[in-house]
Amino acid sequence: MTTADRVPAIAVLGSINMDLVTTTGRVPEPGETVLGTGFVMVPGGKGANQAVAARRAGATVEFLGAVGEDVFAAELRSTLTDSGVGVERLRTVPGPSGVAAIVVDADGENSIIVVGGANAELTALDADDLAAIANADILLCQLEIPISAVAAAAAHAKANRTTVVLNPSPVAELPAELWAHIDVAVVNSGEAERLAPVLGSVPHVVVTRGADGAEYRGPDGGSRSSPSPVVDVVDTTGAGDSFTGALAAAWHRGPRAALAFACAAGALATTRLGAGVAIPTAAAIDAALAGRHRSSAR
Ligand code: RIB
Repeated sequence: MTTADRVPAIAVLGSINMDLVTTTGRVPEPGETVLGTGFVMVPGGKGANQAVAARRAGATVEFLGAVGEDVFAAELRSTLTDSGVGVERLRTVPGPSGVAAIVVDADGENSIIVVGGANAELTALDADDLAAIANADILLCQLEIPISAVAAAAAHAKANRTTVVLNPSPVAELPAELWAHIDVAVVNSGEAERLAPVLGSVPHVVVTRGADGAEYRGPDGGSRSSPSPVVDVVDTTGAGDSFTGALAAAWHRGPRAALAFACAAGALATTRLGAGVAIPTAAAIDAALAGRHRSSAR
């Protein structure tokens, strides 16, 4: 088996939400009511989306997170199991599951309000969580759960030579010792600006630029960039999650290949309404890349 064929084991620690998605011609101003054009209710959450994305991109994935005791919990759990994501470390806690109120406008741009629910209860990790992290090749985290849990997970990963990938979204102030444990940061251009003072100390930084692709800066200061395949955008929700999960799944192939693979995954995720349902498989990503290569003479 070559390095490229290897199946990486990824532990994803993060949020899982029920996304309540409305589509509208334009987002209302404060105090205004507008008529919407559609509504779907689909599983999401940055953690769950990235777990499904990494799994569909070819990795084995264990999800560490929490759902509540409400009508959404069973569907949230089954969306992970149906995708082949391990849920042994997905606990059920009293109270509601996380929900996200999402508005998608006519250009496919989204606005999101997340109410953490069960995700906010994930303040500490137990021995089995720590074992899952130590046994993984990569720990992948975001910031929709308490930072105390992310910090504990990253410290444990570092101590056990598990590569730590952080997508610091929604962007927040983090303790310096947490940044010291991050091997790879995946940020969008807005986050890159806000976090510029701390990103300099992270060995590998990937900046996503939507339809303009992504850039990578490595520990030696070397950089690479990759374009995004051109697609018809329906909804950008979860495109960053699709990118990040695919990047983690392909990280062992090296930054150049991983970046191109992730850009294709992010682009394909914008072609359907809803985050989780739009996440592409490795086969679809490879086909999009092959198409791009064929049309690269344009
Ligand atoms: O990144 C998209 C995700 O952000 C949505 O699925 C929503 O749940 C919020 O977490």
